[in-house]
Amino acid sequence: MIFKPKGTKDVLPDQSFKWQFLEDAARSVAEVFNLKEIRTPIFEHTELFQRGVGETTDVVNKEMYTFEDKGGRSVTLKPEGTAGAARLFIENSLVNTPMPAKLFYITPAFRYERPQAGRLREFHQFGIEVFGSSAPEADAEVISAAALFLDKLGITDVQLQINSIGCRICRNEYNKALKDYFRPHLESMCPTCRSRFEKNPLRMLDCKDENCKKIVTGAPKILNYLCEDCKEHFEKVKALLEIHGFEYTVNPDIVRGLDYYTGTVFEFVSTKIGAQGTVCGGGRYDNLLEELGSSSVPAIGFAAGLERLLLLMENTDVKFPEEKKPLIYVAGMDENSRKKAVEIAAGLRKNGVSAETDLMERSVKAQFKYADKLGVKYVAAIGGNELETGVVNIKNMMDGTVSAVNFDNIYLYLKKEL
Ligand code: HAM
Repeated sequence: MIFKPKGTKDVLPDQSFKWQFLEDAARSVAEVFNLKEIRTPIFEHTELFQRGVGETTDVVNKEMYTFEDKGGRSVTLKPEGTAGAARLFIENSLVNTPMPAKLFYITPAFRYERPQAGRLREFHQFGIEVFGSSAPEADAEVISAAALFLDKLGITDVQLQINSIGCRICRNEYNKALKDYFRPHLESMCPTCRSRFEKNPLRMLDCKDENCKKIVTGAPKILNYLCEDCKEHFEKVKALLEIHGFEYTVNPDIVRGLDYYTGTVFEFVSTKIGAQGTVCGGGRYDNLLEELGSSSVPAIGFAAGLERLLLLMENTDVKFPEEKKPLIYVAGMDENSRKKAVEIAAGLRKNGVSAETDLMERSVKAQFKYADKLGVKYVAAIGGNELETGVVNIKNMMDGTVSAVNFDNIYLYLKKEL
């Protein structure tokens, strides 16, 4: 017996309608925001994530599925969608299309993390990325798309938290302040923090080590180091969120775990799914495209974790729409009637009716029993009599009523249900 790899999940046939519901909601949000779908490869050159997501992040440092292909190239299964989207934008010269470029994706992603509730090694994201606008309206629009998505899923039990982590200018000042603060504590901090001290002190703020976490509590807050432009931008974003009618809290501790962020960052957080409570996270990344070799293009986006959303919906009893059932079961009593049943079911399907007929060579009684298990609304049983008259009794299983319908009119009879 071979089992699935640790940290992965099967989607079973009686659960897939939940996934379809999530994905349909994502697509309908994308439609009203005029976001166009993109699909990028599952694997990319490792360098894309090293340069894009950042060498000092946990994701790149510890969690990537990286391997050499048979041609000796280092490739990596995508740990997230933004770096690939940025690469796609640059490589396909989308900069020459009317701006902003508003994109979305639904994608699997891979991180070698310690699995727990809401944390998997293969997970799925619905993400949106808006390229080309530095306006605060873009920040607010992206946040409102995330909010609408959660709303469509019936999720109310989440909190929007926002922060600004500034631009290169404020980050310089802030990094100096962080270093001044951490320097006297450095001896007692973990090796990762000690190496981040030189390379990227901001990353020390999301260390998971208990002792480091205590030290981090007293660290200076980025909001006190924002330059005038970043301050003004953040104020405008907050004012726009109020126009949208969103409740939010400013959480100066949100720094996000990926290096490309600048300015506005945000998370939608739940307290109902344990330690991994962030169901959706995102922010601006105005320098990423330039760092990947393009001209300067501002950008902002988010990604929501579909497994975490499912978990939240299940834990808070959010209702999923009912799974669709076949509309009719066409039973056949003998060999000739079975042929007719196949023909009728085939004709109905061509017209978009979900129809079932026997594939198990069951007796009529067993066919009825199976139809009942399927939960079909109608059952039509064809026998010698029906073949002779060309008329079949269609039984409505919900109210027990029976209607005699000509073979040629079965579709017309069922059409009202479509
Ligand atoms: P992220 O915060 O790393 O951001 O991931 C976004 C979401 O993906 C998380 O809030 C969470 O719901 C889900 N997620 C992350 N890791 C796991 C995991 N191991 N298991 C289950 N779910 C997980 C990004 O990925 C950015 N690319 C988001 C973004 C887009 N920023 C700008 N544009």
